[in-house]
Amino acid sequence: MNNSKYLKAQETLNEYEANSMHGQLPVYWKSAKGSTIKDHNNKKFIDFTSGIFVTNIGHSNRYIKNAIRKVLNSNLIHSYTYLNEFRVNYIKELVEFCGSNFEKAYLASSGTEATETALKLMRMYGLKVAKKRNPGILSITGNYHGRTMGSFMMSGFPKSKWWIGHQDPNIYFMDFPYPWEVSEEIGKDFFNKQIQNLETKGLDFKNDISGIILETFQGWGALFYPKTYVKALNDFAKKNNILICFDEMQAGFYRTGKKFGYEHYEVNPDIICIGKGMSSGLPLSGVVSSKEILDLPQQGELSSTNSANPMVCSAGLATIRYMNKASFIKSLNANCEFFNQELSKIQEEFSDRIKVFGKGMISAIIVNNHKGEPDVSTTNLLVDDLLNNGLLVVKTGRESIKLGPPLNIKHRFLKKGLNILHNSIRNILNDTI
Ligand SMILES: Cc1ncc(COP(=O)(O)O)c(C=O)c1O
Repeated sequence: MNNSKYLKAQETLNEYEANSMHGQLPVYWKSAKGSTIKDHNNKKFIDFTSGIFVTNIGHSNRYIKNAIRKVLNSNLIHSYTYLNEFRVNYIKELVEFCGSNFEKAYLASSGTEATETALKLMRMYGLKVAKKRNPGILSITGNYHGRTMGSFMMSGFPKSKWWIGHQDPNIYFMDFPYPWEVSEEIGKDFFNKQIQNLETKGLDFKNDISGIILETFQGWGALFYPKTYVKALNDFAKKNNILICFDEMQAGFYRTGKKFGYEHYEVNPDIICIGKGMSSGLPLSGVVSSKEILDLPQQGELSSTNSANPMVCSAGLATIRYMNKASFIKSLNANCEFFNQELSKIQEEFSDRIKVFGKGMISAIIVNNHKGEPDVSTTNLLVDDLLNNGLLVVKTGRESIKLGPPLNIKHRFLKKGLNILHNSIRNILNDTI
């Protein structure tokens, strides 16, 4: 295939753009509609990434385009400052959409700002309301919450924090209950042991911990916690006046088959952080909580120039209204069932080499070699083969491939994508040991 247009574009980016943004799969997007992408050679791909989980209701959804057009026609292209109907209408419907546990929302632009905000709110609550001695936060190893400093300090990747210099002594970690180590039966005991370990090291939860943050599922492997673990965590937090925050950046807005991923655990968090799928491709994120918590920052203590601007609010509102339609829920349920059923068949056929994790419309295939060790090179071969055959998946850089098609993907594209996946797995795994 002639990929000179792609190479030329990449050359320009290499020259002028920070390297940290590079390393994506070599597709030079020309347009994207629904669940398909067309590149500059007019080659089509089925998108099992939803543009990294943002286009949950499909690329260039006409409801979103109309909502953006409405803002363009209104000549209201500015910031959050001063009232406008887009912001007023959106914030009310967003809070209603999030459910009766919640009363208020704060809007920002990126996911990392949302988790930074949650950090601030948990600490303000701990110090001002719960009268804690220290503003401690408990997080989980291997979980991800964003790349800015506070968010990254709460992320569980100790080796990547060398640049921070001063490590926050009030952020603590406990282990993630990986499903191959911790079953439903031992989820509660596993959690209790983690707590005991920290107590043995001198941590006094009642006085020193304000909040616990959880990524609803661990990203790279679409790994969910045992329900018993989260329920034990929830009981422990309530007993010690500790807030629970779920980072729903990927999990929210029906990605896991439920409106929010935390619903799988049957607990009620105090705070949720949302983003990605909430606005179908525009820069919007948020924190949703109670009045008591969200009104802790005084005027001027929490705002951001481009947050809640009319354009993103209009796109956010159109997303919610689309998701509230019965026809959307019907197609979501059908897609979730078919997606998981077909992935189970693939897992069964290659059970010696792959494991499939996930719920709803998020899934990860973890690839091992015959000795049961993580097999990154075969995973990468698989990603390349899928791309050559017209299926775009998320390359994690690890031994996993992530799959997250648009939630409203048409059955024929879902089926075709899964067929490509099945064939590639067959070809590549049969050729590697
Ligand atoms: C769970 C989670 N939290 C936070 C973030 C950060 O969001 P953003 O990239 O919009 O800052 C991400 C992004 O991938 C995420 O998956």
